[in-house]
This record gives sequence, structure tokens and C-alpha cells, in this order.
Amino acid sequence: MASGSSFLVLTQHLTGLLSFLLLLNSAAAAAIRLGVVVKPTPDVPTFREAPAFRNGDACNAEKIHIAMTLDSNYLRGTMAAVFSILQHSTCPENIEFHFLWARFKPEALFSIKTTFPYLKFQMYHFDSSRVRGKISKSIRQALDQPLNYARIYLADMIPSYVKRVIYLDSDLVVVDDIAKLWEVDLEGKVVAAPEYCHANFTNYFTELFWTDAVLSRAFEGRNPCYFNTGVMIVDVEKWREGNYTQKVERWMEVQKQKRIYHLGSLPPFLLVLAGDIKAVDHRWNQHGLGGDNLEGKCRNLHPGPISLLHWSGKGKPWLRLDSRKPCTIDHLWAPYDLYRSDTHSLEE
Ligand SMILES: *[C@@H]1O[C@H](CO)[C@@H](O)[C@H](O)[C@H]1NC(C)=O
Ligand SMILES: *[C@@H]1O[C@H](CO)[C@@H](O)[C@H](O)[C@H]1NC(C)=O
Repeated sequence: MASGSSFLVLTQHLTGLLSFLLLLNSAAAAAIRLGVVVKPTPDVPTFREAPAFRNGDACNAEKIHIAMTLDSNYLRGTMAAVFSILQHSTCPENIEFHFLWARFKPEALFSIKTTFPYLKFQMYHFDSSRVRGKISKSIRQALDQPLNYARIYLADMIPSYVKRVIYLDSDLVVVDDIAKLWEVDLEGKVVAAPEYCHANFTNYFTELFWTDAVLSRAFEGRNPCYFNTGVMIVDVEKWREGNYTQKVERWMEVQKQKRIYHLGSLPPFLLVLAGDIKAVDHRWNQHGLGGDNLEGKCRNLHPGPISLLHWSGKGKPWLRLDSRKPCTIDHLWAPYDLYRSDTHSLEE
């Protein structure tokens, strides 16, 4: 009996390993077809294995779909974000992750599989040639990465059984039950996100935009407010039906002709959706914690309850912690860091 069940466990492990290897193989093949050279990287980050998170008794079978991008530069952030979501979730087994990737590194998949052996997830390749001709240089190079634009194409990539998805950036941690965000009533809107109506909306667009008689009519009939696209609930069906991908792309094409905004993927979203979204409580995006600099210029938390901390901006908590010049708020990110650094363990 005992040996029988352990045999079962072993075969399950072997099957898991086999399918993982097959996945790795096909991904590597895809990478080769795409002409990407997968370099063996000796300095692959390694992560601690997260514990298994189990559903509470009151959980139903409703799935929660979360989409994030997977990029080797932000892998440590993605790991922390996933960990934080699972840890604060009442029904963690109901969560299904959808990872979008552009430049495949098999190590990233390996990291996820080994760090979260029980995670339900799928991977989707984002073909960056879809945006390559449409990206205009922004004031910040980090914003020009094609994967930054993947969220515009999310509805095309995600399978049709997914009707709603929460899109999350990789530089954040969730400190509340994500189910509360999932259950927000969109009231017929395509997107829900915290809205910031006190931010000066004028500054997101150029003089050229506001002085152009035709273009500046884009917001006619709306009271547009800034929102951050790093935390959004998207009604994927409505997005597809309403051709929102094309709507956002159209503004990117205008930007290529005339410079109508400064930042990367955010302004075309604002042009299409600002003033027409369902506003969510601000607690779901305490953004800007990255601040203006890699070092220094630390931001404080805004007053009020917090469900999600977002290090948007130039500074990232893992870089500042490594440089030993962290901001105070970076210590709120640290408990979710699964990165296993050999140098750290030597010092301990
Ligand atoms: C917003 O910024 C613009 C340009 O910098 C300025 O002209 C305008 O007065 C500002 N509006 C408010 C309400 O502060
Ligand atoms: C979306 O695009 C399709 C194909 O171009 C078109 O048939 C349809 O009418 C469009 N729908 C909306 C709501 O614009």
C-alpha cells in the first residue's frame, strides 16, 4: 500500500518532468524557429521553492485569471508578485496565471516550475513584430520594450474560455485577497482600474496634440482621468467585440506620424479609454513607489488602506535592496522575494 502510493507519486513526478522537458523542447524549437539564440546563461537566478497554497473550505470552483508578462529582467519581480498573490488568497488553487513572453529563456519556465510546483499557468508567445514598427521612442527607454505593449494584444492571445482577466505588472505585490479585485462589477465597462482625476491630464500629451483641431477632439464627451495600465481588470469579450486592440493601435500609428505623447504604451490606452472605465478603489494601486531615480528620491505611501503596492517608476525594490541603498518602502517588498543569492547566504 505504502510503496504503491509512493510509486504513484513517483510516476506523477516523472510524467510531470517529462511533460516539462517536452515543453522546454518545443519552446526551444520555437525560439530557434524565431531565430532567437538561446544562450546558456551561467548566472541564472535561482529561487526558493514556495510552499503549496491550498483552498479554504468555503471556496467554490470559480477561476480567477491573472495575466502577467514574463521577462528575464523582471523575473524576480514576477516571482514575488505571484508569491504575494497566492499568500493572501483565500482560494489560491482557483487562480490561473497567463504569462506573456517575447524573448524566450527556458530558464524562466524552469524557474516558475521549480519555484511554484503547484501553480496553474499557461504561457503565450507575444510576437513582438506586431508592434515593432509602431513603437515610437519615449522619454524612457525601459518603456519602449515590445513586451510592454503585449497587454494591448492580451485579448487575442488568451483562450476564449477566459471572459475576464486581471492584468498585473511585474513590479508589484498584492497584500490582500485578489478575489476582491476579481469580483468588481464592471457595470458594462471594458476596463476597470483605479482612476486619478486630480492628476493633470494635459501633461500626458504634447502641445501638438492639444492644438490640433481634429486630434484634440479625441476626448469629446468624456471627462478623462489618468489611470495606470499596470493594474487593470479587462472584460476580454467586450474588448474583442469592440475591436479595442485596433483602436489602441490606431493611436500608435498617429504617434508615429506626429508626436502626440511622451510615454510608451500608456497614452494610447488613455486616448481610447480614459473617462470610460469603471473606477476601482485606490487601495488597488499604490503606484509610483519606484520613484524618479534608481537611488534616492524615495516615495512615501499615500494615506489610506492598501491592497496592492506598485513600484512603478525608475527604481525597482530588488535593485535598490541589492545596492544596499533601499527606500523604506522597499522593505515591504522584501518578504516576497524568493531569490536565492549565494552571496547573501554566505553573509548570514
Ligand atoms: C495643467 O498643466 C498645464 C500645462 O502644464 C497647465 O497649463 C494647466 O494650467 C494645468 N492645469 C491645472 C488644473 O493645474
Ligand atoms: C470590429 O471589426 C470587425 C472587422 O473589421 C467589424 O466587422 C466589426 O464591425 C467591428 N466592430 C466594431 C464594434 O467596431
